[in-house]
Amino acid sequence: MHFFHLYERYKHRINQKLFYTLNQLPFQKSSLLKAMKYSVFSGSKRLRSSLIYSTGDVFKVNITTLDVISTAIEFIHSYSLIHDDLPCMDNDNFRRGKISCHVKYGESTSLLAGDALQSLAFNILSNSFMPNVSNLKRIKMISELSYSIGSSGMCMGQNLDLEAEKKDVNLSELEIINLYKTSFLMRSAVRLVYFSSNNFSKSILSILDLFSISIGLAFQIQDDILDFKKDSVKTDNKKIIKKHTYPLIIGLDESRKKIKQLHKKSFLALNSLKKKISIPTC
Ligand code: IPE
Ligand code: IPE
Ligand code: MG
Ligand code: MG
Ligand code: MG
Repeated sequence: MHFFHLYERYKHRINQKLFYTLNQLPFQKSSLLKAMKYSVFSGSKRLRSSLIYSTGDVFKVNITTLDVISTAIEFIHSYSLIHDDLPCMDNDNFRRGKISCHVKYGESTSLLAGDALQSLAFNILSNSFMPNVSNLKRIKMISELSYSIGSSGMCMGQNLDLEAEKKDVNLSELEIINLYKTSFLMRSAVRLVYFSSNNFSKSILSILDLFSISIGLAFQIQDDILDFKKDSVKTDNKKIIKKHTYPLIIGLDESRKKIKQLHKKSFLALNSLKKKISIPTC
């Protein structure tokens, strides 16, 4: 099947799972639940879920397990974006072309919505049925995710990103920020699938890491390019302009070149994976 159709299928599937999970929770009429649902269903591309379902296809992981992993990762991603937009962080009034969660529901409710989505992710990962996943594997998955999003991962990336607003940042420092704030969650999404499968090889894991990290870095540069273009037509958001990004440091053309290099790197990783296992073609 062509990747575009697969992507649409994955997106539809995860949207249904997220919808079902959130609708099972108590206090449906509370502002907390409304804010959580508003952020989860405001037009995400579900990129991380697509990575999860496609990796799962390669390693023959049961689809129910992939649903659980995708649900957890999407909740973490939504939480990170709610907090990222807060006035004390990027102070962004818009997300995906709609008003941000804190503009619609207020800062305190948004803060709690982020917190609640994060704990829901871990609740799902620890309680949901995952065929053929032993408790030992489950603990490894929980440990991996908690490590990758905290002070050794995404939160540190966000911290470095905010600190960088106060000083000059060079390219290698910027790469570290992007690695932590964006790539580590993508790496974790792919790792969780691999840990849930019946394979384990250090060399395959490092190929997968190279793939997901390269995709994550390329993705963040593209996001920076989009932000950069938005800012050059819209000048009211001073906070974003202060951000050190690839286009600001090396210019648009060099940033695009960097994306191409990372894209090539991720393809090379997939090719070396192909030599080790048989990957279904689409
Ligand atoms: C946005 O991620 C935040 C970054 C890490 C750059 P996405 O572009 O994947 O967010 P969605 O698609 O709106 O959920
Ligand atoms: C967001 O990065 C990264 C995380 C939420 C962890 P950005 O701040 O660049 O993302 P956008 O531009 O707000 O989507
Ligand atoms: Mg940010
Ligand atoms: Mg932001
Ligand atoms: Mg951005």
